[in-house]
Amino acid sequence: MDPAPEEAGTPDRLPRHVAIIMDGNGRWARARGLPRYAGHREGLRAVRRIVEHSVERGIGVLTLFAFSSENWARPPMEVRMLMKLFMSALRAEVRRLNENRVRLRIIGERSAFAPRLQRQIAEAERLTAGNDALLLQIAANYGGRWDITQAARALAEAVQAGTLAPQAIDEAALAARLSFADQPDPDLFIRTGGERRISNFVLWQAAYAELYFCDSLWPDFDATAYDLALADFARRQRRFGRTGEQLETGEARP
Ligand code: IPE
Ligand code: IPE
Ligand code: MG
Repeated sequence: MDPAPEEAGTPDRLPRHVAIIMDGNGRWARARGLPRYAGHREGLRAVRRIVEHSVERGIGVLTLFAFSSENWARPPMEVRMLMKLFMSALRAEVRRLNENRVRLRIIGERSAFAPRLQRQIAEAERLTAGNDALLLQIAANYGGRWDITQAARALAEAVQAGTLAPQAIDEAALAARLSFADQPDPDLFIRTGGERRISNFVLWQAAYAELYFCDSLWPDFDATAYDLALADFARRQRRFGRTGEQLETGEARP
């Protein structure tokens, strides 16, 4: 039986970092005979709810997949609408984020965005930089493969500059050059919308994330559905390659 939602957030079983693929906006709209854009707008309301609930639950880092490297392939009208929504949301939400002491960071290849949007991103990050209740990372024009590739390029540049020996390249050296190297890897990876795939979201960093798939479309995802995911996470035994017996006897702690 599922534990009551209030049990979901017992501190020792709480993920430090939750990463979410917010999927299902289009289907939510289509089910109502609305344009896809209406689903994205409703999805923004879900973002507000989930950010606020993350603060309430004491989550440290929340990473939301908002626009993938591959989403440029959508109809131009939808891409334009998504960019407009992104810009207006940045403008409108910063004050609320500040009130909730949320720090904002955008991860992804931002040079593809219009200069005005890039300036707005930098400004929002600067304004919220001192906040400590939650780090909200929005993945925009983000792809897990892009992230690993840009880290590999940074390693190559360091080798070329003579500051890094090829023999010194290990997992830690690559990990240190990924987008959010200063944060713990995601512990809990949620995808809404019913599909069971990763769609090029955090690849390297999700190596040991607990995966949770739920059928709710993103605009319907609420605090109760989120608590169910947290409760499910709290019941998992994370072994990191060890045996269950090792963990139960306390012989080895990950
Ligand atoms: C996720 O919802 C939002 C983005 C990818 C921007 P979708 O737009 O993918 O919604 P579905 O999957 O078509 O329902
Ligand atoms: C993943 O959703 C990207 C985001 C939620 C931003 P998609 O809807 O683009 O993924 P696929 O195409 O179904 O794999
Ligand atoms: Mg989708």
